[in-house]
Amino acid sequence: MLEQKRPPKSRGFYVKMRLLHKHGRLQEKSFFFRYYKWVLWLSLTLYFFSSYLISNNPQSKLTSLSKTHVSKSKSNLASRALIELKDNATQHQTDHEGQGSLNNLKIYVYDLPPKYNTDWLSNERCSNHLFASEVAIHEALLTSDTRTFDPYEADFFFVPVYVSCNFSTVNGFPAIGHARPLLASAVQLISTEYPFWNRTHGSDHVFVASHDFGACFHTMEDVAIADGVAEFLKKSIILQTFGVRYNHPCQDVENVVIPPYISPASIRTTLEKSPENLRRDIFAFFRGKMEVHPKNVSGRFYGRRVRTMIWRRYNGDRRFYLQRNRYAGYQSEIVRSVFCLCPLGWAPWSPRLVESVALGCVPVIIADGIRLPFPDAVNWPEISLTVAEKDVGKLGIILEHVAATNLTAIQRNLRDPRVRRALMFNNQVEEGDATWQVLSALAHKLDRSYRRSGVSIQ
Ligand SMILES: *[C@@H]1O[C@H](CO)[C@@H](O)[C@H](O)[C@H]1NC(C)=O
Ligand SMILES: *[C@@H]1O[C@H](CO)[C@@H](O)[C@H](O)[C@H]1NC(C)=O
Ligand SMILES: *[C@@H]1O[C@H](CO)[C@@H](O)[C@H](O)[C@H]1NC(C)=O
Ligand SMILES: *[C@@H]1O[C@H](CO)[C@@H](O)[C@H](O)[C@H]1NC(C)=O
Ligand SMILES: *[C@@H]1O[C@H](CO)[C@@H](O)[C@H](O)[C@H]1NC(C)=O
Repeated sequence: MLEQKRPPKSRGFYVKMRLLHKHGRLQEKSFFFRYYKWVLWLSLTLYFFSSYLISNNPQSKLTSLSKTHVSKSKSNLASRALIELKDNATQHQTDHEGQGSLNNLKIYVYDLPPKYNTDWLSNERCSNHLFASEVAIHEALLTSDTRTFDPYEADFFFVPVYVSCNFSTVNGFPAIGHARPLLASAVQLISTEYPFWNRTHGSDHVFVASHDFGACFHTMEDVAIADGVAEFLKKSIILQTFGVRYNHPCQDVENVVIPPYISPASIRTTLEKSPENLRRDIFAFFRGKMEVHPKNVSGRFYGRRVRTMIWRRYNGDRRFYLQRNRYAGYQSEIVRSVFCLCPLGWAPWSPRLVESVALGCVPVIIADGIRLPFPDAVNWPEISLTVAEKDVGKLGIILEHVAATNLTAIQRNLRDPRVRRALMFNNQVEEGDATWQVLSALAHKLDRSYRRSGVSIQ
């Protein structure tokens, strides 16, 4: 899927505004955290001081140890009152996140130094390209009702590291060679400066790995498999675009399959520009890399040669609109198409899946064994077609058959706005959108929550 080089959109001003916004929030948060620590420190000091005054016997050390729990939870109560006030201020406007169904989930977002995340945003592409869910989820969580500023009441800990924004100056693709060391250093930092990682060995910690093969961090499947999921991430929860229905070392970790990132603004612009009573005049559409003579890269061929088959078989067929070169306005072609082909690339998933659904083109999924995002929210068999890789030579017959039988039913299902919403990441969480689906998936993993396991300080 890497061949989809996205031209940067002119969002400089917008990005700057967002950065300003965020810094405001970060300051407010670290102030609060400092304040919280101060309360804790004060109550501990008072406690030790008074217990020293009251009793000086040898037992006091032991009792004071057990009693720190009490004063700690008291200071927790104090900070909770502040948090509630904050929550009450936002939450009572509207329950736009549908907190009820999220089981009162609480997420703590680590405040990492900017070299791990926001520094990368100086490149506008960082928050826009197909791997940008790592940015989108972080930003949405910062203003989410599920966010807590009190790590002691958190169910999950989100570790915001952007690993897909080191764009190569040669070809523009993100270099991910630095992903492991950058993440390792973030884990080193949080596990020494906070007590929460060691408590559970990171099993209530959440990371995004939106690259081709998830937390294996390599574009080539054989290398990705040989490397495996980074050791220090193996106990955590990975939000990843990669997913297959068979055993694979790159999903050998607790994971949630998420959709690739497509900017909601780009979809809105495309829909606004397309005429009201648009006729879908393209029967089957594909634009992207289609090698005529695919190279054998250590025993593997790009897209398992499926794209080459499509090109050889259907180039010149009047029903198929196939293009091999890049074109920034390709979304205007999707909106004109009935069927949009979504064949695998190096990895099975493709941004075309999301763009087709968002623009009302029936996705034709050609990627054997693919595991699709949010199956509880998106009934994929109802809104898409799946064609086996070996049947790609029969695409023409298959699509004609569907067009003659159940196409209108599929298109009707595809028009359900809930489906579209579930695949898009918004700046602020909206009930049912992609970040909300992530929260909902986490709400089903509360058995991993230290707080709810009963051993917590309450
Ligand atoms: C916040 O709202 C809840 C009810 O929704 C109420 O019980 C609680 O006292 C409020 N907290 C504060 C600090 O106002
Ligand atoms: C970005 O990628 C290049 C090429 O792989 C690498 O040399 C460089 O160290 C990376 N930059 C950072 C900040 O990790
Ligand atoms: C967590 O464990 C590591 C390795 O044992 C240790 O270096 C670190 O200091 C511990 N962190 C805390 C906060 O105790
Ligand atoms: C692809 O290349 C590998 C060596 O890298 C070789 O063993 C294999 O036979 C080749 N496959 C084909 C179909 O050419
Ligand atoms: C439409 O028909 C195709 C081919 O017969 C079938 O595979 C698919 O499941 C049907 N889809 C729906 C939503 O009925």
